[in-house]
Order: sequence, then C-alpha cells, then structure tokens
Amino acid sequence: MIKLDITKVAPVVSTADVNALAARVAEAQKALEEGTCPGNDFLGWLHLPSSITPEFLADIKATAATLRQECDAVVVAGIGGSYLGAKAVIEALSNSFQWLVNDGKSPVILFAGNNIGEDYLSELTTYLKGKKFGVINISKSGTTTETALAFRLLKKQCEEQMGKEAARKVIVAITDAKRGAARTCADKEGYKSYVIPDNVGGRFSVLTPVGLLPIAVAGFDIDKLVAGAQDMEKAAAAPLADNIIAQYAATRYLLYTKGKKIEILANYQPKLHFIAEWWKQLFGESEGKDKKGIYPASVDLTTDLHSMGQWIQDGERTIFETVISVEQPEHKLLFPSDEENLDGLNFLAGKRVDEVNKMAELGTQLAHVDGGVPNIRIAIERLDAYHLGQLIYFFERACGIHCQLLGVNAFNQPGVEAYKKNMFALLGKPGYEKETEAIKARLK
Ligand code: PA5
Repeated sequence: MIKLDITKVAPVVSTADVNALAARVAEAQKALEEGTCPGNDFLGWLHLPSSITPEFLADIKATAATLRQECDAVVVAGIGGSYLGAKAVIEALSNSFQWLVNDGKSPVILFAGNNIGEDYLSELTTYLKGKKFGVINISKSGTTTETALAFRLLKKQCEEQMGKEAARKVIVAITDAKRGAARTCADKEGYKSYVIPDNVGGRFSVLTPVGLLPIAVAGFDIDKLVAGAQDMEKAAAAPLADNIIAQYAATRYLLYTKGKKIEILANYQPKLHFIAEWWKQLFGESEGKDKKGIYPASVDLTTDLHSMGQWIQDGERTIFETVISVEQPEHKLLFPSDEENLDGLNFLAGKRVDEVNKMAELGTQLAHVDGGVPNIRIAIERLDAYHLGQLIYFFERACGIHCQLLGVNAFNQPGVEAYKKNMFALLGKPGYEKETEAIKARLK
C-alpha cells in the first residue's frame, strides 16, 4: 500500500493538530458518503472502483484489441479531465523513449483536442498522413470547442484515408448518454461508444472508459489499475488515525490555514510528470473557487532543483511540498568505475543510480524543511498499474474530503465559462450577437 509521512510538516502543523481534526474529517467523509455535500449529484466516483465489473473491463479490452489490431496510431481527443488521467497513466507506465523503441506491436498513442495550436494540429495531421489511425473522441459535454475542432479534422482525415466504412470501425466515442454533438455524431455514424456516467465529473473520470480505454489501447493492465483503486477505496473508510487519505487531506487543510497557500507536488521520476499535471487539474479545478483553495504547482526533480530549487529553498514562505517517491525502480543500473576518475565520481562506482536519486531526495527534503518548507511524503512501492490505481483513488478521495473542509463545491467549475463566453463572442458564434457587440466596444 501507499505510505504517507506527515511528520516533516512540523513545526507548522503537528501530528496532534492533524489528529484533532478527526471529527471534522469524519463529518466530511459522512457528507460524501451520504451525499449531503454541495455538488452531490457528482459523487459517482466515490464507489466507482468497486462497481467496475469484469464484464465491463472485458468490453473495454475487446475495443482496445480492435484498435490495437487495426491501427498504427490512435489519437485520443479530449481536454482537461477528458485526457489528463489517460495521459498521466500512459506516460507513467511507458518506456521513456517509447517513440524510439516502439516495436510496432502497440499503436503510437497521441493526444489532441487539448489545445488549439495550429502548428500542433498541422504537424499531427501531417504525421498521420498515410497511416492507419484511429480516434477516441472523449467529451462528456460533447460540445467542448478544443476537442470538437480536433475531432472534425481527424474524422475527415481518417475517412479520407481509410474510407467511411473502415473509419467507422476505428473511431470510438466516449461521451454523455444522450446529450451533445459527440453523442449525436456517434449515433448517426454508428461508432462504438461508451457513456460517461452522469454523476462522474471529468476530473474524476479516469477509472471510467475515459481513462480505461486509452490505457488499454496503449497495452497496459487495466485490471490491475482498477484493483489498486479498489484496495484504496476499501482503505478510505477508516477513521483518520488509520487512514492515510484523510491524514493527507487534513494536513494540507491545516497547512493552508497556516498561510501555506501553494502546494508543490514533486517527483523524482520523470515519468511522473503527467501524474502531476492530472493532480493539478484535480485539485485546482475542484477547490479553486469562492476566492479559496491551495494553488497546486509541480516540479520534476532533480531537474527543477536547477531552476525552481532556488525559489523553493529561499523564496516566499507560502509553500509546502508533497513528494511522490517511488521505492523500487523497474530497472537496475549501476554506475561504472573509471580508471582515470577525471570526474571524481569513483566513490559512486558500483552503486545503483536509484541510490543516488534517493540520497538527492533525502538531501533535498532536509534542505527544504530547514528552509521552512513543510514536507509531505507519499511513497509508492513501484511505478506499476496497481500502485497507480491506488494513487489515483488516494488523490480523488483526498480532494473530495479537502473540499468539504474548505467549504467549496468540489464538483463544479463555474470559472471555466468566462473565457469561453469571450472567445465565442470574439469569434462571432451565432447566438452571441449581444456579447460580440459588447466585447468589440470594450476593445475599441
Ligand atoms: O474536470 C472537468 O470537468 C473538466 O476539466 C472537463 O473534463 C473538461 O472541461 C472537458 O470537458 P468535456 O469532457 O465536457 O469536453
């Protein structure tokens, strides 16, 4: 199981302070369990892992097998919660040089619909020219502009290259049961489709087909991913003293009340970069409202010790750090000895690379704590599907609890609408005539 160490947040917050929050955490858990919290129509993620059946997983794996067999590349179109979970897990489990070592047994997994970069889309469509590629079009609302624009381009290209009939077999939609353009299109074209449950919001949807299908297409073990989440779901019910999820939520809440407004998620494995991106979205979009919320930031270490390390060590003391540490790497590599020892590194000869990495981690932790940065440490045994499943549910549940403590609705995102309204007004979308007039007047 994942391990949590909160002893290094002292003296800002003591273990006694955390334990004293037990009653409030229990209340928060009860509000989630009984559905009495704000946004209670979006609590489907809470017991999602235990509700996943082998039949459902078999269906996902069958669809994944078709895409794996038919395609050299599969493009996952989606943004925010409709892409970050899959991207995070695939990156964490893939070879760091997957582009170069791909043996052709697995399709290349690409992501689109998460930006409107003309160069990005142009380079993507150029790469796909002449290739057998499939598309997984993911949008809960079915109307998100970034995703819809990418899908329009990809659908056209796929049909032109493969013919409409063959394209139909390699385009899959993951969207609402009834609403939205993605549903209308999937039904009209006869695509294989999956439903995103009404009561599961985007950023809590990685264990629905939204995450599971792309992860299975990439060739990773979704049974183990789900098993890890199921085990963490079981552990989530315990009282605070025996519950690492509750302890993490309570600790970050107390740090926040003591002026630690920024949480920096640090990792020492580059493959975890997108886990941090997913985590930032989960926490940022869930708790950043009503002028409240910890700002979620991230660093990849030791890389960023040579950039952000200075700020973390010596900058404004409004931060705390949460480290994800992987106990056991998947590979073993020893530093060689060198006769000339010109770099002076022979004292490391015969040591594992990971031993050096772990000492860098420990040294950094001590330095940051000395510099006034409270430190939370989350240790996972291995970077595999099972432990990632645990980690996903750990963070989802902690986010749910923390938002109750903070007093915000974890499950809406009203702030996301402001940019869309302006963009549509500027682009002259039909129906936005008044807004177009108003925004043009503002820009004069
Ligand atoms: O967490 C969320 O709800 C959001 O980040 C959404 O996932 C994101 O905006 C994409 O929305 P949709 O799936 O409706 O295209």
